[in-house]
Amino acid sequence: MKLTRDSKIKDLYKTAIGQDVVDKILMQMNKSDKWITNPLVSNLKISALNLYIKDEGFLDALLDLINSETELGVQEGGTLTKQWWKEVVFYQIYPRSFKDSNGDGLGDLQGIISKLDYLKELGIGGLWLSPIFKSPMKDNGYDISDYYEVNPEMGTMDDLKELIDQAHKRDIRVIMDLVVNHTSDEHPWFQEALHDPNSDKRDYYFFRKKEETNNWVSFFFESAWRYFKEQDIYALKLFAKEQIDLNWDNPKVRDEVVKIINFYGDLGIDGLRLDVINYISKKEGLPQGNQWVGDLMEFTGIEHYFYGPHLNEYLAEINSRGFAPNHMFSIGETPGIGIQLGKLLSADYRKQLDLLFTFDHLETPGHVRFDEYLYDLNFYKEHMMKVLGSNSLHDWTSLFFENHDNPRMISKVNPDPMVHDVLGKALNVILLTLQGTPFIYQGQEAGFINQEFTEEDLRDVESINKLKVSDMKTVLAGTRDHARTTMKWSDEGGFSESEGWIKSQHESVASIESQLEDSMSVLSFTKQLISFRNNTDDLIYAPIQFIHPKTRNYFAYKRGDYFIEINLSDKDINRPKSNDVLGLLLSNYKGQVLGSLRPYEANIYRIL
Ligand code: GLC
Ligand code: CA
Repeated sequence: MKLTRDSKIKDLYKTAIGQDVVDKILMQMNKSDKWITNPLVSNLKISALNLYIKDEGFLDALLDLINSETELGVQEGGTLTKQWWKEVVFYQIYPRSFKDSNGDGLGDLQGIISKLDYLKELGIGGLWLSPIFKSPMKDNGYDISDYYEVNPEMGTMDDLKELIDQAHKRDIRVIMDLVVNHTSDEHPWFQEALHDPNSDKRDYYFFRKKEETNNWVSFFFESAWRYFKEQDIYALKLFAKEQIDLNWDNPKVRDEVVKIINFYGDLGIDGLRLDVINYISKKEGLPQGNQWVGDLMEFTGIEHYFYGPHLNEYLAEINSRGFAPNHMFSIGETPGIGIQLGKLLSADYRKQLDLLFTFDHLETPGHVRFDEYLYDLNFYKEHMMKVLGSNSLHDWTSLFFENHDNPRMISKVNPDPMVHDVLGKALNVILLTLQGTPFIYQGQEAGFINQEFTEEDLRDVESINKLKVSDMKTVLAGTRDHARTTMKWSDEGGFSESEGWIKSQHESVASIESQLEDSMSVLSFTKQLISFRNNTDDLIYAPIQFIHPKTRNYFAYKRGDYFIEINLSDKDINRPKSNDVLGLLLSNYKGQVLGSLRPYEANIYRIL
C-alpha cells in the first residue's frame, strides 16, 4: 500500500523506512518517540507533520523514500545459524599507526606480523585491517588507486600473503577493508575517464556539466562536486575531493567489484569490511536534496543515496557472485541505517551482507560528533535494549564503541583520570558480554584515550577541512586523529625507531608492555574478559534478558547461566536485589560492598 499525505502518521511506523527515518529525526531533534506514538499524534494525517516541519518539499521527499521500500524484515522467531564470525572477538588495526618495522615512521604489514603473538595472547580471533591498498593517502587509504597492489609504504603482496598465513597459523582470521563507493582520483580508471570522454571508463563515474550538478554536500564539509577546469566538467564525490564516486548502475563497475572480491577470496582473505557500502546506489537523475533534511542531518542530498533504489539488488549481486562462492564474510559500514533497514540489509535469509556497522549508538540524542559534551551511558543501554530487542534469530549485531573514525570512548564518557581504569574496564565488560560480535579498536584493550593536538599536529583531511569552517575547540571534540595516534607499545613509545607520522597515545596512559606486567591493568583485565568470552558459549549464543531495565545508571542482564551488572555512573548507586544466588567471577573492583555499586563497577557472576 502506497502512503500518501492522507495516510495516518501511525502508518509511517509500519514501514521500515518510516520507522528508521522518524526515529532518526526525533533523535536529532532530541525528542522522544512518544512525541509521535501517542494516539493524539499517531492518528493524525501525515500532512499534519507540516505543522511542525515548515518545509513544503519535506513530505514529498519522505513519502517518496518510504514508498520505495515495501518490505519489512522478520521481527521475531526464526532459527539461529552458528557462524565463526559470531564467535570470535575481532580487533581492528589501523595499519599506519599500529607498528612500524623499518623505521620510516609509518606502520606496515611486517609491523603487524611482529605483533600477531600479542594478538593471539589477547585472545583475538579475527583481524580487520583498515585499507592497505595502493593509495595516495589523501584519506589514509580510503582513497584506493590500485585494488590489486599493496601500498608500498606498508609492504608488498608477499608481505600480505605472509600476514594471512601467519595469522591463520594462529587461528586468527583476516578481513580487509574494501572501499568501492569511490576510488582515488589517481586510479587509472578515473584518469582515463577524465582525459578521454569516449573511454568506456567515463561511465564508471558521475561526470556532469555544471547545469546537471546538484546541491549535495560532501561529508568533509565541501560541495559534493569537484570541478575539473581543463575539461570543464564536474565529477561527484561524497567524501574528499580526491575520492570520486563510482557509478554502480554501470554493470561493468559491478563486474570490477566482483573481480576484486574473488581475487582476495583466492588469496585466502576471510572476509571484507565494505566501506560506506549503503551509499552505492544513487537515485536516478541525482535530484536536488531537501533543504530541511539537509540542515537537520548536515549533509544535503543524503536521502537520495543512503538507501538508494538498487542497494539491495547490488548487494545481493556481489554476495552471490563474490562472497558466497568464496565463503567469505561481509560486514558493511552503513552510516544512517537504522534498525529496520538494517534487518533488510543483513538478515541471513536476505543473502546480502552478514553484518553491519551502524552508528546510532555513538552520539546521544541531539548531538553530533563535533559537539563537546559528555556521553551518557544510559543512552547506550536504552539503545542496545531496543536494538537487541528488535532482533529475530535471523539478525545479528556488531558491537563497538571505537574505530578509526571516532574519539576514544573513555574520553567521551568521562575524562577524569581518577576513573580511567574502572571505566575502561567497564566499557570492555559491556562490549564483551552483550549479545553480538565485539570489535575492539587498537588500544581500546588497554584503555587508550584522546590526545591533545595543536593545529600543526592534525593530520586528518576531515579535521583540516572542518577547521576551515569552525574553531579548534570543535575540531578537538570530534577529530578522528584521536583514534589514529600511534600505538604505545613500550614506555619509550615502541611504535617506530624514528618519529611517527602522527602523535603517539597520551603520556598519561601506561604502555602495552607495562600493562602486560601489571595484573591489575585495563589490558590484563580485558585479556581475562576475552578469554572468558571465548570459552563461554552462553556469552556468544545465549539470548539476552535485561534485568531492572528502567533503573537509571544500572545496566544488568542475563546470558544463560551468567549475570552481568554495571554501574553506568561515576557515583555510588544502590544495587537492586537479585532473586538469584550469584557467585562473582570477574569484577573491575576488588571485593564487594553490600547493597551498592561503586562508580562504573562492573561484575560478572555465575548464577548458582
Ligand atoms: C568510511 C571510513 C572513513 C573514510 C570514509 C570515506 O566512513 O571509515 O575513514 O574517510 O568512509 O572512505
Ligand atoms: Ca614502515
